[in-house]
Amino acid sequence: MGRTAVTLSGWELDNPVIPASGTFGYGKEFAEAYDINCLGTFSFKGTTLKPRFGNPTPRIAECGAGLINSVGLQNPGVDHVLAVELPELAGFFHKKVIANVGGFSVEEYAEACRRLDGAEQVGILEVNISCPNVDHGGMSFGVSPEAAAQVTRAVKAVTTKPVYIKLSPNVTDIVPIARACQEAGADGLSLINTLMGMRIDPRTRRPVIANRMGGYSGAGIFPVAVRMVYQVYEAVSIPIIGMGGVQTAEEVIEMMLAGAAAVQVGTANLIDPWACKGIIEELPRAMDRYGIESLQKITGGAHHG
Ligand code: FUM
Repeated sequence: MGRTAVTLSGWELDNPVIPASGTFGYGKEFAEAYDINCLGTFSFKGTTLKPRFGNPTPRIAECGAGLINSVGLQNPGVDHVLAVELPELAGFFHKKVIANVGGFSVEEYAEACRRLDGAEQVGILEVNISCPNVDHGGMSFGVSPEAAAQVTRAVKAVTTKPVYIKLSPNVTDIVPIARACQEAGADGLSLINTLMGMRIDPRTRRPVIANRMGGYSGAGIFPVAVRMVYQVYEAVSIPIIGMGGVQTAEEVIEMMLAGAAAVQVGTANLIDPWACKGIIEELPRAMDRYGIESLQKITGGAHHG
């Protein structure tokens, strides 16, 4: 195992850097910029049972330290992903991927995951119960321990792949929700999704985003994400994929010290398409600076001693 390698539910990744869902599509645009096989893996765009056009525009509002999006889970649907995106991906990405799955009912989550269960290329199902941009679904499952557990159980019943539940930060206490997912059989957790935010244009005196509010991501949320990963690590024994505003190799290390077994990088890909490649190249130098021999060994390091 190389010094930057990490494992997620028995799956060895060359390094912990994973572009986050919704910032990397199904990989092909980024594969035109660089050889994406340098990544640990990536999490593909939140995919639902049926295709979705998404929310009205404008969907993006820029902020000082990040951006707000309200994309609304635009995606081509799970059957298209299985028939077109994954076969295309196999031509240029030679690792398994994380399949991010959205839904509007427990049954829909389960059916989309059941269909993805047969895909050899899928290493982990990342069940997104935290999208803040859709009604009747998305985040509504991620703000209640009971609903989160219900989705977890339903998905676990239809797949043999590891199931990671993607949690929302838009809650009073994330810990009971994380525990409920673990008790319902989740193999891991991904956190955090975006924080609910809003911008208003002083010229029009109207919200910038057509859907009024959206999910805030980027550098500004990094300390919130570190805090939540730290709290959840103390409460569960399943692996955590940490994310939220990560932009540098040092922040990957910080997130791992908080408790992450691997780290997703999201908004940074939208600012600089080569961001993940740069972080991966910098990681060994950052490890040397902090006397880290093996990255895998530092997970949760901030909790000990
Ligand atoms: O609106 C969106 O597609 C965002 C999804 C998410 O944050 O999970």
